[in-house]
Amino acid sequence: MRIIFFSKPSYPNLLSKINKKRISVGVVGVGYVGQALIEGMADSGIKSYGFDINKDKLRNIKNSSFTPVETLNQLNKCEVICICVPTPIDEFGKPDLTYLTKACENVSDFTGKPRLIIIESTVAPGTLRNVVLPLFERKGKKLGSNFYLAISPERIDPGNTNFNITNTPRVVGGVDKLSTTLATKFYATFIEKVVPTTSSEAAELSKMLENTFRLVNISLVNEIKEYADSIGVDFWEVIDAAATKPYAFMAHYPGPGVGGHCIPIDPVYLLEDAKNRGLDLKLTATAIKVNNVQPQKVVEKARESLNGFNRNRKPKLLVVGIAYKPNTSDTRESAGAKILEVAENDGFEVTYFDPYVPKLNGYTSNLLNTDFLNSQDVIIIATHHDNIPYELIAKIDKPIIDTRNVMSKYLDREGVKANGPLDQGGARTKGPYSTDLLKYEGEYT
Ligand SMILES: NC(=O)c1ccc[n+]([C@@H]2O[C@H](COP(=O)([O-])OP(=O)(O)OC[C@H]3O[C@@H](n4cnc5c(N)ncnc54)[C@H](O)[C@@H]3O)[C@@H](O)[C@H]2O)c1
Repeated sequence: MRIIFFSKPSYPNLLSKINKKRISVGVVGVGYVGQALIEGMADSGIKSYGFDINKDKLRNIKNSSFTPVETLNQLNKCEVICICVPTPIDEFGKPDLTYLTKACENVSDFTGKPRLIIIESTVAPGTLRNVVLPLFERKGKKLGSNFYLAISPERIDPGNTNFNITNTPRVVGGVDKLSTTLATKFYATFIEKVVPTTSSEAAELSKMLENTFRLVNISLVNEIKEYADSIGVDFWEVIDAAATKPYAFMAHYPGPGVGGHCIPIDPVYLLEDAKNRGLDLKLTATAIKVNNVQPQKVVEKARESLNGFNRNRKPKLLVVGIAYKPNTSDTRESAGAKILEVAENDGFEVTYFDPYVPKLNGYTSNLLNTDFLNSQDVIIIATHHDNIPYELIAKIDKPIIDTRNVMSKYLDREGVKANGPLDQGGARTKGPYSTDLLKYEGEYT
């Protein structure tokens, strides 16, 4: 008599564990995205373990459902692995997948139980299937028995008080149907709405579309604002007027250039991948160019505002708000930091104030008081944190380049008037004030 042993099929077993939340989740990379994931899962009672090459990041997470680990191999015990490492652009402006491939290489060495691997990092369409999947297969791992593979691009908007990881719908796409189902079920254990796509490429491209949409629209308003300025029209009033259309218009706002790890970067991934396929995405390419020149344009305005300046010394330029986004300390790709660099190269003596960023690139945030403000020749408001003393700034008799339209409301108030030339924001006396809209729109991710 022959006895045949069937190994336990991995899919139903993993599915059942996920549905019952009897899983441990390993998070590789616990920066902004990894940390948000850990906290979202913890709120739903899911235990997680995390590894980061930067040990400080691990120490920052204080959550009883989370256990930091010393080596990546210790995540071998987890049924689900979420990879949340950076996907930046390199010094030549090209996509840099080295963090992702390194992390995946290491995870592909895991042995034992079958597991679900999910990439949360943002990548160009086809990366999961053509770059990540072969890494696992080269190690002899078989899709559908040793591992399942899906992508779920994170949508976190740091500082957004309306939308968090739980109430923001999540797009999920696997390299095959079983992977899509497992990943969908996994996210459904702690996210209110999960949106499966029929391929990993569709999920990857959805993220590219979201962020390219924002870049194109922000570049568009920056461009039209120049035109509005040239005909003497307050463009902020124009946007508010256009935004009263109840359908088919979404307000975007001008600024000194977009920042962060997403909007300035993701369209570059899309553009480069399209180029490799012989496609020229002209609109995306133009939006990137328009965005990249904004800091330079702001510095030019500062220079123009100093018409007649005493040339015996360098003009002093203060940047207010150096983080890329209001009420956060994140300075990645910050337009304010670029303004400092451009202005310094342009012969300004530069300095900044940011209550969230004590030091940056060798500069130190200054204390903001009347004497200090009066010692400056031009003030640029680059990011509009809530806790900046705008009233104090408004009383200073110096040119203010207000790239966020925060100063206009002080113009109408009795006893408080910006005396120097006020640029960009312009005066606005009626209509809804747009700060709440800005926050809601999450403009700066
Ligand atoms: N920050 C956001 O708002 C946001 C939103 C949506 C999507 N994303 C995407 O998510 C991804 C991660 O972004 P983030 O903002 O969390 O980046 P981050 O830099 O804050 O965090 C990434 C972490 O990964 C760690 N890391 C790098 N290589 C590693 C490795 N081999 N093993 C373990 N850890 C490693 C880094 O030390 C860092 O702590 C990127 O692809 C980004 O585009 C970010």
